[in-house]
Amino acid sequence: MNYISVAIDGPAGAGKSSVSKAVAKALGYVYIDTGAMYRAVALYAIRNGIISDTQKIIDALDDIKIEIKYSDSGQLILLNGEDVTLDIRQEEVSKGASSVAVIGEVRKKLVKMQQEMAKHDNVIMDGRDICSVVLPDAQVKIFLTASADARAQRRYKELVEKGVECDLETIKEDIIARDYNDSHRSESPLVKTDDAVLVDTSDCDFDESVRRIQEIITKTVG
Ligand code: DC
Repeated sequence: MNYISVAIDGPAGAGKSSVSKAVAKALGYVYIDTGAMYRAVALYAIRNGIISDTQKIIDALDDIKIEIKYSDSGQLILLNGEDVTLDIRQEEVSKGASSVAVIGEVRKKLVKMQQEMAKHDNVIMDGRDICSVVLPDAQVKIFLTASADARAQRRYKELVEKGVECDLETIKEDIIARDYNDSHRSESPLVKTDDAVLVDTSDCDFDESVRRIQEIITKTVG
C-alpha cells in the first residue's frame, strides 16, 4: 500500500508544529515532529557531558535509541525507553539541538528513521530538510513561513502569557540568528525547494493557517 506524505519545512517559530499537529488530527494522519528527534540526541549529549564533543556524539550514536509513540495527549518522545517529551523543550536543549543538527552522522541516522516512519502511515512531517532530503517524493510539499516580526510577536505573546519576563527586540534578534544558522549550515540547510508551495502566515491567525494548509493537502491528494 502506498501512503501519503506531506512534507512541511520552514524557519523556527513559523508555527509548523502546532499547525501540522492540528491538520494531522483533522485529516487522520500521523504527525511526526523531526525537531524533537534532534532535541532527544542533544538531551542525551548534554546528560552525558559530551555536547561540545562532536566525535564523542558520533561514537555514542549506537547507544541512542529514539522512539516516537502516540498517546491521548499527543506525540511522546522516548530516549532509551524514558519519556523525555517535556525535558527536550528546555532552552539548553534547544541550543544543543541546533549544534547536533550540523553533524552529518546524526542527520544520517535520523533521516533514515524518518524515511522508515513514512513507509507505514499517512504522515505530516515537519522540519527543515523534509522537502529537500527526507521525503523528496512527498505528494505535498509546503514551505511555511512568516516574517521575523510576526514570529517574534507570537513568541513574545506566548512568553508573556506564561508570565516569563522577556524583551521583544531580543526575541527578534534570536529568531534572525536562528534563521541564519539554519539556512547557512553546510549539512542540509533550510531551503525552499522549487516544488514546495510557499505559505506565508504573517497576516493570518492559527485557524486560518490550519485552513490554508488543509486546503492545499485536500486539493492535491483528495
Ligand atoms: O523545530 P525545532 O526547533 O524543534 O528543531 C530543533 C533543532 O533541530 C533546530 O535547531 C533545527 C534542527 N532541525 C533540523 O536541522 N532538521 C530537522 N528536520 C528538524 C530540526
